[in-house]
Amino acid sequence: MGARAERGRPERSVSLIAALAREHEALRGLVRRIDAALVSADDEARARVRADLLVLLEALRAHEEIETEAFSGAVGAGDGTPSEAAAELEREHAEVAVLREEVRAILEEGVDAAWPELSARSLALCRRLLEHFESEETRLWPREAHSVGRTRERSLSRSVERRVRALSREIERGRIEAADYLTRRR
Ligand SMILES: [Fe+2]
Ligand SMILES: [Fe+2]
Repeated sequence: MGARAERGRPERSVSLIAALAREHEALRGLVRRIDAALVSADDEARARVRADLLVLLEALRAHEEIETEAFSGAVGAGDGTPSEAAAELEREHAEVAVLREEVRAILEEGVDAAWPELSARSLALCRRLLEHFESEETRLWPREAHSVGRTRERSLSRSVERRVRALSREIERGRIEAADYLTRRR
C-alpha cells in the first residue's frame, strides 16, 4: 500500500462511497433474486431470470464504468503507475466483464438458448459479483477514495444516486411482475 493510501479515507469521499455502496445493495438484491430463481424449472420463472439478467448486465456495465472513472486517477508511490488497489480493481472488473459478456452472449441467442448453460454462467457471475462487491467495500474503495477530486466526486455521486433510483424502480417492477404471475397461478 502506498503512503497516500495509509492516510485513511478523507471526509470528502464519503458520499461517493456511500452512493456506490447503496448501488451495491440494490445490485445484491437483484443478484440474490436471480441466484434463487436459477434452480427453477418453470418457464415463466426462467423468463423472469432472463429479464432480471438484462437489467443486471446493463446496471453492471454502468457501475464498472463509474468506478473506473472515479478511481482512475489513483497512482502508486508517485511514479505515475497505478496504485496496487487501482490495478486490482481493474483486474477484478476485467474478470467480471468476461463473465458478464458470456451471459450476454447466451441471452442474445434468444429463448432457445440452452438453459443449463445460461444457468451455469449466470451462477458463476452472481457468485463472482458478491465476492467483488465485498472486496471493493472492505479493501479497494477505502484505499482509493482519496484519489477522487471534490468536484468530480460530487458529480459522480449525483450520477450514481440517479442510477440507484432507476435501478431500484426496475428491480421493484420485476418483483411486482413475478408476484402477479404467482397470484395468477393460484
Ligand atoms: Fe466494481
Ligand atoms: Fe462495485
